[in-house]
Amino acid sequence: YNLGSRGNELSTRKIIFANFNQDCTSLAVGTKHGYKLFALNSVDTLDVIYDNESETEDVCLVDRLFSSSLVAIVSLMSPRKLKVCHFKKGTEICNYSYSNTILGVKLNRIRLVVVLEESLYIHNIRDMKVLHTIRDTPSNPKGLCCLSVNNDNSFLVYPGSSITGEVQIFDVTTLNAVSTINAHDSPLAAMAFNSTATKLATASCKGTVIRVFSVPDGQKLFEFRRGVKRCVSIGSLAFSPDSLFLCASSNTETVHIFKLEQMGAEKAPVADESSSWMGYFNKVLSNSASYLPSQVSEVLNQGRDFATVKLSFQGSRNVCAITTLQKLPRVLVADEDGFLYIYNLDPMDGGECALLRQHNL
Ligand SMILES: *[C@@H]1O[C@H](CO)[C@@H](O)[C@H](O)[C@H]1NC(C)=O
Ligand SMILES: *[C@@H]1O[C@H](CO)[C@@H](O)[C@H](O)[C@H]1NC(C)=O
Repeated sequence: YNLGSRGNELSTRKIIFANFNQDCTSLAVGTKHGYKLFALNSVDTLDVIYDNESETEDVCLVDRLFSSSLVAIVSLMSPRKLKVCHFKKGTEICNYSYSNTILGVKLNRIRLVVVLEESLYIHNIRDMKVLHTIRDTPSNPKGLCCLSVNNDNSFLVYPGSSITGEVQIFDVTTLNAVSTINAHDSPLAAMAFNSTATKLATASCKGTVIRVFSVPDGQKLFEFRRGVKRCVSIGSLAFSPDSLFLCASSNTETVHIFKLEQMGAEKAPVADESSSWMGYFNKVLSNSASYLPSQVSEVLNQGRDFATVKLSFQGSRNVCAITTLQKLPRVLVADEDGFLYIYNLDPMDGGECALLRQHNL
């Protein structure tokens, strides 16, 4: 997720870009003096894997391929140029120039995708040749796009409209358009796949609801209410590795964590939930939901957050993730002021997540 502030702010913010890699084993940050990679394997220590801060390149996009030495980088100095590097050897493998500013770069084991405002370039990771170009897409000024990390049925999603929240699903293995999902009434603000790319979470620029769809058929599985506050812009969405939790961060001080729990017939009721009145109520209603008119059943599906993180700041751009660190689920938040915060997530009771560590990036 690009924290890129291309205006005056740039001089005061430490971090231009921050992004967790595909399996959340490392954090990449772009700064005014290059880029850094950190290993995410413990709560208390944050090991630097790579740091080229002596260079003068202001890096605005970095994507590392899993735990490999392959990174794709773009700098503010040459925003139309993509460089693919082997960071351990310190060598450049190749570079490509595009017709316009690069707004997003995504890598998986078979493809590299470059996002421009009105087109997407799909490269073959093996020889870096352009396999396919998706031209004349609706304007995508934030460079929104997700590439699934799985090897089979590898999907790319990008906005299908600049007026509504339509999502285009494209198969990057077969290079064919797959389907469209009408996810929201207003334009998309954030998207995330689960690790098998069978679920897609979306948020619109209104920021009040977050939806989860099945991929590629686009069936709505969950709907969560973030809150009633207006003018909230959701900056990032991310599933936990087991797809049971979804976190959403925004320009407010609260990061919401939702639990993707199936109610009703498909799942045996959890003891404490069925004994509570709400649990019973939800179960009865969701069992009968298929008999209700669609408008009513839609309202019943709206869930609230399961857990929250209260940040010590608000208004600065950030990126969130849920991962397992030292065998327990943790919520990670990296912000443009140059900190990584690690919180504990209680997978049974939820509630407010306790801050465990704050690392200086
Ligand atoms: C970009 O790649 C070309 C070869 O395609 C190479 O000649 C050139 O030196 C590279 N540019 C930089 C800045 O490394
Ligand atoms: C992703 O979601 C699907 C259901 O849509 C589920 O079957 C799959 O296990 C999830 N992936 C992971 C890694 O949990």
